[in-house]
Amino acid sequence: MYDPERATRADAFLRHLFLRHAVGREVLDVACGTFAIDLPLVKRGYRVAGRDQSEEMLRVARRNLRTAGVTADVSRADMRSLRLGRRFDALLCLGTAFNYLASSADANKALQTFRDQIRPKGVLVLDLTNFDAWIQHPKNVRAEVDYQSVDGTRIAIFAFNEQDVGRRIHYARFLTVVQRRHRIDIGFDEAPLRIWKKAELAQALRAAGFRPLEWWGDLRLGARYERSRSPRIVSVSTPVDVR
Ligand SMILES: C[S@@+](CC[C@H](N)C(=O)[O-])C[C@H]1O[C@@H](n2cnc3c(N)ncnc32)[C@H](O)[C@@H]1O
Repeated sequence: MYDPERATRADAFLRHLFLRHAVGREVLDVACGTFAIDLPLVKRGYRVAGRDQSEEMLRVARRNLRTAGVTADVSRADMRSLRLGRRFDALLCLGTAFNYLASSADANKALQTFRDQIRPKGVLVLDLTNFDAWIQHPKNVRAEVDYQSVDGTRIAIFAFNEQDVGRRIHYARFLTVVQRRHRIDIGFDEAPLRIWKKAELAQALRAAGFRPLEWWGDLRLGARYERSRSPRIVSVSTPVDVR
């Protein structure tokens, strides 16, 4: 509903990235959501494991896998305490999921678990919202979705946010209204998201034993990172060899 082209763009981005870094076939997506970004990888022969803390998201992920006629190992886990008992060639944490770890302690804990799940020479891909650009050009009140499905269900999502720049927190708030025939359901969500700057993220990655390799401004081919303009901060890093 948000952006149907996103998965196609992300797939082209990941395809080139994996070729450039000779990434193997084992991929872990640590906050996989609906599995939308992972399905094209599975279809191209990657073995993708998906973890997410939300059962609702996993339900949609499983339905998407069934519809696509493919299988994958998806189950519930918190990205701060992953224990898969094996290592992966690529670890993905996409779509602002890393911003959901609002405290430094949680973010560092997650980076440590990512480090434990990834093979030497593997890649970690983080895709965060670039709040630096957001703060300079705020879009704090907006209609995010106005959608009608084939069965006539109408969905409207209204977003209203606020930033506490001193505490480095962005409060994401969504009001969702669903109309099915004569019934209307209203939901409200609020989540504190951590505001990361590129330099701070680079420092946290190094402290957790990663070496940043590439920075991009979106999960899209050739999107250069520009601090005050890019919608995203995409970092690609690799574990530091500690032999
Ligand atoms: C905005 S969605 C992004 C989903 C997917 N990565 C994508 O790019 O489409 C954020 C996801 O992070 C998940 N999430 C948030 N905190 C998490 C945590 N501590 N451990 C695992 N998943 C988490 C949420 O359940 C949600 O599915």
